[in-house]
Amino acid sequence: TDKYAVIGNPIHHSKSPLIHAEFARQTGENIEYTAIEVPLDGLQNSLQQLRDVLKLKGVNVTVPFKEQVWAITNQKSARAELAGAVNTVVFNDDGTLFGDNTDGVGLCRDLTVNHQVELAGKRILLLGAGGASRGVIAPLLEYQPANLFIANRTAEKASHIAELFAELGNIHGGGFDHIDGEFDVVINATAASLQGEVPPLPDAVLASGACCYDMMYSDTDTAFIQWAKAHKAAKTIDGLGMLVEQAAEAFFIWRGVYPQTTSVISMLRDKS
Ligand code: ATR
Repeated sequence: TDKYAVIGNPIHHSKSPLIHAEFARQTGENIEYTAIEVPLDGLQNSLQQLRDVLKLKGVNVTVPFKEQVWAITNQKSARAELAGAVNTVVFNDDGTLFGDNTDGVGLCRDLTVNHQVELAGKRILLLGAGGASRGVIAPLLEYQPANLFIANRTAEKASHIAELFAELGNIHGGGFDHIDGEFDVVINATAASLQGEVPPLPDAVLASGACCYDMMYSDTDTAFIQWAKAHKAAKTIDGLGMLVEQAAEAFFIWRGVYPQTTSVISMLRDKS
């Protein structure tokens, strides 16, 4: 049995062990996947222990360690390099760590495949300029949207990130008061939902037929999803599908087999 885990702090709420257990059952892969809480000041030591003592083959990384793991990993995929954050680690046999980031692919697959939301040629508004936001920018730009605007409470962070990604597409950034015109797809990557808050968005920001996506998921509508419904969004989607899709991509990196995701998404939906 090959062993894997998700590391974070806190971690008790994680659905990842359930998701990977389903993937393993479905594909017949012989793996064990657990959730491990890592002390806030003990990441480096914990990674070493997971590799050398517990003999794990890899880990997923969640809040608040994605940026720290990015800094530690020796080799990274191009998408992880750009994201500035790592959510999937492979412990190589020679002791080195390979870091990847599957969050952006997970979001895009959930939007375009599971929900048939088109991104090519569309106007996309991304709320937030933290690690979660940065991780999905390059994958979103691959779809060649008409434009991508990053809006953030701290405006400078958004304009800085927009500059970093400027070569990859038509991307700009600023404060919420710089949001101009209508958007077809609005994605919430702020932590505001955690506090039950919604970023201050202009009332007329949603184009007709607009889709609103909250990267956060919750058993009940988040404040952002409530806002979207009140503003007549044609479609509202929470982050459950993204969670399963980023996990599927990680499973593929580790095992070379791509699990089927829709049944796992439905199973989690039914449980909540
Ligand atoms: P994550 O890894 O989840 O992105 P982060 O890097 O701490 O976490 O970033 C949190 C993001 O949520 C930031 O964009 C933050 O805005 P600031 O850059 O101005 O701090 C945003 N955020 C957090 N609470 C918010 C709130 N109540 N309203 C609006 N934005 C909020």
